[in-house]
Amino acid sequence: MRALCWHGEGDVRVDTVPDPEIVNPHDAIIEITATAICGSDLHLYDGYVPTMQEGDVLGHEPMGEVVEVGSAVENLQEGDRVVVPFTISCGSCWFCEEDLYSLCDNSNPNAEIARKMMGQSPAGLFGYSHMMGGYAGGQAEYLRVPYADVGPVKIDSDLPDEQVLFLSDIFPTGYMAAENADIEEGDTVAVWGCGPVGQFAIQSAWMLGAGRVVAIDRVPERLQMAREHGDAETIDFEEEDVYDRLMAMTGGRGPDRCIDAVGTEAHGTGVTGVVDKVKQEMHLEADRPHVLRQAIRCCRKGGTLSVPGVYLGHVDDLPFGSLMNKALTVKTGQTHVQRYLDPLLERIEDGDIDPSFVVTHQEPLENGPEMYETFRDKEDGCIKVVLTP
Ligand SMILES: NC(=O)c1ccc[n+]([C@@H]2O[C@H](COP(=O)([O-])OP(=O)(O)OC[C@H]3O[C@@H](n4cnc5c(N)ncnc54)[C@H](O)[C@@H]3O)[C@@H](O)[C@H]2O)c1
Ligand SMILES: [Zn+2]
Ligand SMILES: [Zn+2]
Repeated sequence: MRALCWHGEGDVRVDTVPDPEIVNPHDAIIEITATAICGSDLHLYDGYVPTMQEGDVLGHEPMGEVVEVGSAVENLQEGDRVVVPFTISCGSCWFCEEDLYSLCDNSNPNAEIARKMMGQSPAGLFGYSHMMGGYAGGQAEYLRVPYADVGPVKIDSDLPDEQVLFLSDIFPTGYMAAENADIEEGDTVAVWGCGPVGQFAIQSAWMLGAGRVVAIDRVPERLQMAREHGDAETIDFEEEDVYDRLMAMTGGRGPDRCIDAVGTEAHGTGVTGVVDKVKQEMHLEADRPHVLRQAIRCCRKGGTLSVPGVYLGHVDDLPFGSLMNKALTVKTGQTHVQRYLDPLLERIEDGDIDPSFVVTHQEPLENGPEMYETFRDKEDGCIKVVLTP
């Protein structure tokens, strides 16, 4: 089959690789009809995620048609149309039973590597390094889905792929980010990052009762989408001082809820921006925590900081004192996608939201390598890429 494979920093290629096969009776094989590129893929593309190997198949936002099921799969059959969550979860360990699917205890065969780095291992993820299980990803013609009874959600309606595809990741991720922010009726919610995750966090903040949403980025078309589609007020962090502006907007109090939808590759401004970039290049810190620092500083006393943005290792110079003294709550995590599939599919089917608004590029899988570059460089108005094998 054809698949997008990782060959090192900035080097994604379309290779011909062996078709996946059922290796466990709980597996299913899916023929992919649509598959997206995520901001998380950029951390792999830019070489920040350890334990990637040359030739690894990328991708964790897939959907398609079931073409084969293992003997123990009960909920799926050949011909079913499904969206596959990026988190691989067994459905029966303590964490899965608590609905903490991205923390599944059974789905990472390389748990030992993750345990050494983090203390305990989170769930396995599709196409996201050997530390996270070494699973082949879904930017390919076919995908092996482990625990096929637990993950995939069946799509019985005739909604087009681009309306349901983002149930695999970014819609639940934006939604969990807003839920984790503990939004109360009328709250002011500030969202850093107007990429796809930020856009869904904005939509979800309104669904959960926000009174005001402020979105922060520097890419004009992303800010415009946040304003026009997301009804948010916007701040361009390169044009204005974010802290000053947020204080002016909230009478000096700060936003009640802050969402970091940027993560490890945040752009810094001024001297600290340069210092972090240098430290990261020299491996003195793994992440560039500009947004984390800014959000902690801006958040109102007693407020909540929700972090869907991905971080990979150690951060430097985090103002833990202000976090503690201002009594902030922090919530984060890879998304427990399986928890949100049914309720968010229902919202799509009811017409509350059409997630396809983020799509700017629909291209054949063969153009994947160019699309990675376009998406990374935020060129050509690119906000979200959907590839079709
Ligand atoms: N928790 C999860 O399960 C989960 C799932 C999907 C994605 N993510 C993470 O969410 C983050 C966003 O994903 P995306 O697909 O929207 O990525 P993206 O790269 O398309 O968007 C990131 C945006 O942040 C903006 N940005 C950079 N520095 C900034 C700053 N200092 N202040 C404000 N904005 C800034 C960029 O201009 C860009 O528009 C990534 O870290 C991704 O890995 C997490
Ligand atoms: Zn993702
Ligand atoms: Zn589990």
